[in-house]
Amino acid sequence: MAMMRRKLVAGNWKMNGLQKDRQFLSDLATLHSETPNADVLLCPPATLLTSMAATRPGWLMLGGQDCAMTQSGAHTGDISAEMLADLGCSHVIVGHSERRADHGETDAVVRAKAQAAIQAGLIPIICVGETLEQRESGLAEAVVVSQLSAGVPECEAGQVVIAYEPVWAIGTGRTASPEDAQAMHAALRAAWSGADSAALRILYGGSMNPGNADALLSQSDVDGGLIGGASLKPDQFASIIRTLR
Ligand code: 13P
Repeated sequence: MAMMRRKLVAGNWKMNGLQKDRQFLSDLATLHSETPNADVLLCPPATLLTSMAATRPGWLMLGGQDCAMTQSGAHTGDISAEMLADLGCSHVIVGHSERRADHGETDAVVRAKAQAAIQAGLIPIICVGETLEQRESGLAEAVVVSQLSAGVPECEAGQVVIAYEPVWAIGTGRTASPEDAQAMHAALRAAWSGADSAALRILYGGSMNPGNADALLSQSDVDGGLIGGASLKPDQFASIIRTLR
């Protein structure tokens, strides 16, 4: 059933990127003529979204890295899903392990943020993933499946994207093996509560780079990648996208 799902490559710039880095978009300008079969999304810091929204090529989608769980009001420093949609964003990352760790975000918070995103017409990319300790204790699948059931609001498969990002693989240069990634993605799909699990897009994230992307992205349940470090370098990001030609 993988035929139904277009691959999605998403770049997460995290807290990186200044005005001068808008140049990145020109570096990627001609890429899509080579890879018309993949969707490409960039999630720069919120400070770059306005200018990138004005200059992005039409095929490059933009997303936020987080959104508030409420729609508007007295929440200094927060950015609502509606504000992101208003800028032209199509997606927003929620529940990244860095936000879970740095800001104490629980599955309930992640679920409320995903719900707010859907309400604003955005597709939340809901991140799940186990720590090294949990993997070594044989708990990886249980942890990740529980994050899925507690963190995803009631919705159709096409309204969300799931990102499996093992915490021990993020920024470490270590990736899940293609077989382990495939097994976890299949477990997540099997745990999806709706009958439409074949339409659910599940991305892999964690030290994906031009050298390992092909092996990971060719797994039948790996529907794309959520790329951190390698998405900051246009040649590396492009090279990952080109594996989907
Ligand atoms: P790295 O690709 O830098 O490991 O980051 C992955 C990630 O956290 C993407 O959201």
